[in-house]
Amino acid sequence: MVGFPATFPADDGSWSLVETIHQSQPVDVTAPYSTATLAGKVILITGGASGFGAAFARKWAGHGAHIFIGDLDDAAGEALVAELRTLPGSSGYHYYQHCDVTKWVDQVSLFKMAAATSPTGGIDAVVAGAGIVERGDTVSGNIFDHPQGLDAENPPPPKLNVLAVNLTGVMYTTHLAIFWLKRRGSRKSEEGTEEISVGTGETLQPPRDRHILLISSIAGVSPLPGQTEYTASKHAVMGLFRSLRGTVWRQGIRVNVLNPYFVDTPLLPWRGLALLAGGAKAEVEDVVEAGTRLMADQSIVGRGLVIGPKGRIEVNASEEDVPGAGVKGEQAIWEIYAHDYEKVEVFVWRFVQMLNTVKKIRGWIGTVKDLFRIYRVERAKKLQRAQ
Ligand SMILES: NC(=O)c1ccc[n+]([C@@H]2O[C@H](COP(=O)([O-])OP(=O)(O)OC[C@H]3O[C@@H](n4cnc5c(N)ncnc54)[C@H](O)[C@@H]3O)[C@@H](O)[C@H]2O)c1
Repeated sequence: MVGFPATFPADDGSWSLVETIHQSQPVDVTAPYSTATLAGKVILITGGASGFGAAFARKWAGHGAHIFIGDLDDAAGEALVAELRTLPGSSGYHYYQHCDVTKWVDQVSLFKMAAATSPTGGIDAVVAGAGIVERGDTVSGNIFDHPQGLDAENPPPPKLNVLAVNLTGVMYTTHLAIFWLKRRGSRKSEEGTEEISVGTGETLQPPRDRHILLISSIAGVSPLPGQTEYTASKHAVMGLFRSLRGTVWRQGIRVNVLNPYFVDTPLLPWRGLALLAGGAKAEVEDVVEAGTRLMADQSIVGRGLVIGPKGRIEVNASEEDVPGAGVKGEQAIWEIYAHDYEKVEVFVWRFVQMLNTVKKIRGWIGTVKDLFRIYRVERAKKLQRAQ
């Protein structure tokens, strides 16, 4: 029967939506995974000319992925794609296009260019990587140094550039990604391969991976005093991720997120680096490792990873409650927000079940339509034969 329980929780007492949203099991960051799936993947990276984006591009291009980069820094972007084309294992299909992620037209153009230039006719994965930090606290800093004072007749609003890049830009990227990832575009390398199992043993149809990788931050889960706008933007990305994973499974798209701690990239201002002097930082290679696992292991759906300084955390909990609690050696990568959909409140429960019901009904309608089409074709053939 198509439908969802009228009562809440479900008859079996479970409040979990994990299966409904196809969320996979908590990530075992110590388990081996294959990078073979990267070969032939068309991956679009915003902000890919520097830092994490550039490091992902180098790693994934070396495994045969085709990389498309959009960034403000044209010189760095062009130099990077030239380098990618020469890497051992590279497909040679790597392209750069200028893109300011805050400008909708730039992003529309970037996605169109990628789809049109793609050697496989489609886009398989998107990384929303472009990001900036505040150069002073937008909300509470320097208020009283304001030349006019906020009690002047028409005081200017604060410039919310960080929200524009880190939130509006990421929303634009995600919106376009859902459209283009859904678009037909066969990955030649996948022809004849097995179906991709997702989460709870179900499979994505057709056998083609579609993946959105969001980049939040440790500032997406904890406060970063002095970086109010940045912290708000990264919390917002977590809100985007946590909600999106409750709906985007309908499109056969997996969404995952990275939450790195401070890493020495051009993003970090010298003041930030000075504050961290002597303290531990996370490493680019650990961020690349976490991102590569999420990109390559196509069974990981709706999961978030924190990347911190390598360390050992003594956790008095079971592995089931705290993924990674049982790990013996040092590790830098930890699962985060693992249990969101295991116990949900009534709104989320009903909303997601409703989507599931609609999807199932559409599935039936699709079957009926197909049968009707077959009937019409067969009838037309019969009539032709009779003439
Ligand atoms: N480095 C860290 O400590 C750290 C920690 C957590 C999260 N992050 C996040 O990781 C992501 C990548 O940061 P990174 O450390 O690699 O920094 P980075 O400065 O090395 O790279 C960011 C890239 O984004 C590009 N960019 C900036 N504004 C843009 C715009 N409007 N349109 C297009 N491109 C734009 C820059 O030109 C640059 O190439 C960001 O979202 C950042 O917030 C970084």
